Amino acid sequence: MSIFRDNIFEGRVALITGGGTGIGHGIAMALAGHGAQVAILSRSAEHLEPAAREIAEATGRACLPLVADVRIPEQVESAVARVVSELGRLDIVVNAAAGNFLCAAADLSYNGFGTVVDIDAKGTWNVSKAAYTAWLGSQGGQILNISATLHYGGTPAQLHVSAAKAAVDALTKNLAVEWGPQGIRVNAIAPGPIGDTEGTRRLLPGPIAGQVERAIPVRRLGRIDDIANLALFVLSEAASNIQGEIIVSDGGLSLTGGFGLLFEAMKKP
Ligand code: NAP
Ligand code: COA
Repeated sequence: MSIFRDNIFEGRVALITGGGTGIGHGIAMALAGHGAQVAILSRSAEHLEPAAREIAEATGRACLPLVADVRIPEQVESAVARVVSELGRLDIVVNAAAGNFLCAAADLSYNGFGTVVDIDAKGTWNVSKAAYTAWLGSQGGQILNISATLHYGGTPAQLHVSAAKAAVDALTKNLAVEWGPQGIRVNAIAPGPIGDTEGTRRLLPGPIAGQVERAIPVRRLGRIDDIANLALFVLSEAASNIQGEIIVSDGGLSLTGGFGLLFEAMKKP
């Protein structure tokens, strides 16, 4: 049972990158469950098609799966064009697509760094730019970026994603200022570790997850629903004066330096 009215996004169309899995899927499901028509975009039809079916079955709304790589502007432009032509408009863009892995800076290759920056930072820009050109720039709307808290300090084995998410935060603030006068709200959510996601499976292997959980002030990992509910709020009219904010949902972990525990995860067995 949601605490939000079930039709608050009626008549809206949302595109969620990374919407086939994890946090992006949770946000897509929540938006569709509150009245929006949704499109989900990622590289793999194997992720998108079952997710689109699940969203349609759970919400009674068709969900448009779009295979594209956010690193390739032409693919992104075609996908955005399909949203506008098949769903009629594009009010909300959620940039949740990302890549990450644990790797000490000393072991990280040039291409390993570049790949994550390309997906997270350049991908966020590519999708935002294509959506701006196709719809948002003339009609207004919203962009919600999914960032992280890893770059608030120096997080071991996370140089690549820290650099990428710092760029996402910069994009969020700059676009909020430049595009705000055109009726576009741009904000970000910075999740801490969220249980039952690919992110925590990769970053907090084995006993590290339990140790990090014990370091979180609220003493639990985040849940996909925590982020989906926050997304509903930020994208709703209740947040119409929130612009260029990066809103943390991490149970207080980023206040504690708890990610230092990732040093443990880097130790060779
Ligand atoms: P996830 O399920 O692996 O989500 C990442 C998504 O991005 C996947 O659906 C993937 O789908 C898509 N993707 C990857 N590369 C892509 C590309 N080049 N083009 C298009 N789509 C691409 O992981 P998650 O943990 O839920 O993460 C979702 C978001 O939350 C990410 O932005 C992540 O940085 C952020 N976040 C997560 C956590 C956490 O604890 N989980 C914490 C902080 C921030 P395909 O493989 O089909 O392309
Ligand atoms: N440790 C160190 N380097 C790694 C790595 C790891 N675990 N995984 C990939 N890399 C490096 C590769 O070696 C390659 O660099 P190289 O050419 O110098 O060898 C570079 O990263 C690109 O790898 P590749 O597998 O070609 O990239 P891809 O575009 O197919 O996939 C990834 C992108 C690497 C981010 C992949 O993990 C992915 O698709 N992730 C999506 C899901 C995800 O990460 N979810 C969590 C989100 S928080």
